[in-house]
Amino acid sequence: DSGTDIAARLLGWYDAHHRDLPWRVSPRDQARGVEPDPYRVWLSEVMLQQTTVEAVKAYFQAFLERWPTVEALGAASSDDVMKAWAGLGYYSRARNLKACADQITSQDGRFPDTEAGLRALPGIGAYTAAAIAAIAFKRPAAVVDGNVERVVSRLFSIETPLPLAKPEIRAHVEKMLSQERPGDFAQAMMDLGATICTPRRPRCMLCPLRQDCSAILSGDPEFYPVKLAK
Ligand code: ADE
Repeated sequence: DSGTDIAARLLGWYDAHHRDLPWRVSPRDQARGVEPDPYRVWLSEVMLQQTTVEAVKAYFQAFLERWPTVEALGAASSDDVMKAWAGLGYYSRARNLKACADQITSQDGRFPDTEAGLRALPGIGAYTAAAIAAIAFKRPAAVVDGNVERVVSRLFSIETPLPLAKPEIRAHVEKMLSQERPGDFAQAMMDLGATICTPRRPRCMLCPLRQDCSAILSGDPEFYPVKLAK
């Protein structure tokens, strides 16, 4: 099937089965006109860079309660921010978080709304810029993390090993992604990878893309993604 059909099936599944996460605006609320807050999207994506969803939840809530806006975080002391980050690890993220809040606060208080503009900020790399652009600003950005690499490798039974397959995987995502709902598409791919298309024993019988998936036909979806020997 075409990329459009795949996106439609994926989004239909997401509407019914998306994870309720504190930084998300559900598809239903978005349809009612609730817009994602770029500050919340940014804060969650930085926390999620090297930390699991379960571990991030409480920290995200605590930060938001204490510093509800990027201006509030900009006005905080670095010491307080580092202390609040304690336990999340990779402390350069906290230093960059504060530097980024300071920079935005000293400008107009708004996050840039393009991938290129976002990438210019401290602590925001290619992945995080794409995620914020898609989720907060509805830009049709290709959001590719490890979960998405696995899903796409299986969908198209990509034999090229990672990391060599990255450009090929990105091209598939660009072809498939939803122009209307790029943020939900990105988060649906992540949820599919986290809950259905798992590294071991994927739950293919529950997968909304099983009719599209080339790896199922091989009988061994776990074989993908192929990785270069370390
Ligand atoms: N991992 C990174 N970003 C995420 C998001 N927005 N939702 C779920 N998992 C994620």
